Amino acid sequence: MRNPDYARTLERLASEGFDGFYRGDTARTLVDGVRAAGGIWSLDDLSGYSIIEREPIRISHRGYRIVTAPPPSSGGVALAQVLQIIAGFDYAVLPRVERVHLLAEAMRRAYRDRAIYLGDPEFVPVPVAMLTSADYAAGLRAGIHPRRATPSELLPGVGAFDGSEDTTHFSIIDTRGNLVSATQTLNLPYGNGFVVEGTGFLLNNEMDDFSVKPGVPNAFGLVGEDANAIEPGKRPLSSMTPSFLMGADRVAVIGTPGGSRIITMVALGLLELMQGASADEVVAMPRFHHQHLPDQLSAEPDAFSPEEAGRLREMGHEIDARERGWGNMQLVIWNLANGEVQAGSDPRWEGVGSGSTGERVDAEAVFR
Ligand code: DON
Repeated sequence: MRNPDYARTLERLASEGFDGFYRGDTARTLVDGVRAAGGIWSLDDLSGYSIIEREPIRISHRGYRIVTAPPPSSGGVALAQVLQIIAGFDYAVLPRVERVHLLAEAMRRAYRDRAIYLGDPEFVPVPVAMLTSADYAAGLRAGIHPRRATPSELLPGVGAFDGSEDTTHFSIIDTRGNLVSATQTLNLPYGNGFVVEGTGFLLNNEMDDFSVKPGVPNAFGLVGEDANAIEPGKRPLSSMTPSFLMGADRVAVIGTPGGSRIITMVALGLLELMQGASADEVVAMPRFHHQHLPDQLSAEPDAFSPEEAGRLREMGHEIDARERGWGNMQLVIWNLANGEVQAGSDPRWEGVGSGSTGERVDAEAVFR
């Protein structure tokens, strides 16, 4: 496919940096094209944009360090909450059904807090320290019944609603030990399906990542309140969870697309990594997901045996059995002891990474 408009857009960006996109020809073409199609963009909207470098969220769990996305993604905070809640249990030795129940309850509570507290930190005070603290997690953990699902509507916070439901991730480790975990998103496949003539690229529909009205779900069924309401200049709340896992034995780079399910995919993947699973095992592992509302435990076709599903239903979980899997996880693991690097690319999609890459990264040289 030839896309000369996009080539010129990229050339302007490469030669002029910020000004080659947010000002000048590209900006004017964008604003004219969007306004001609009925949109309301202005040149000031583009020139006033700036990238903000933020401190990542850092989590400690079972001897590993995890470095992940801060607000305005909800990924890192929700991931920290899930891990903090389950840290109070001997998670690794629990039988599978209890483990799924515990994780689903932790996910439910983290997504409830996402809906209430999380939004662009330039606009709303996001209580990151409180939400990710051990004391707060202990309070949430105390409300989990070991054998019963807590109906989401019984948790204080966002009310129930009457409602309904592609992105790219790169995980990279280079031979010098540099780590990149990058999730890029247009939100829904093909964004809003609109290319401004002369630019060669699709515009996103990230407005859907805002909460348009309290309690009204977005395309991924996520609800929110004022913290993530639409305001001029505000960044929408994401679920992207590009993450690094750093332990004494291995370092991993992990991430995936998948909308609201990104956080729980990364959480499940990290838990398996910390148990020693290989890259291929982690990306192929069957997934389940709970996001508070809708009050359902979503399951990939092979996530639960009929017996496990039966027991989870007895505990009060409504199982949303999906016909298809979700996600497109990309994972690289670096074994610090022998320098071996393994890649895993989600078998649900078309990636090619599998098993050892044949590269070695000398940990001693990198960390010296
Ligand atoms: O940032 C977010 O949370 C969404 N815009 C991500 C959307 C997504 O992953 C869709 N891909 N499957």
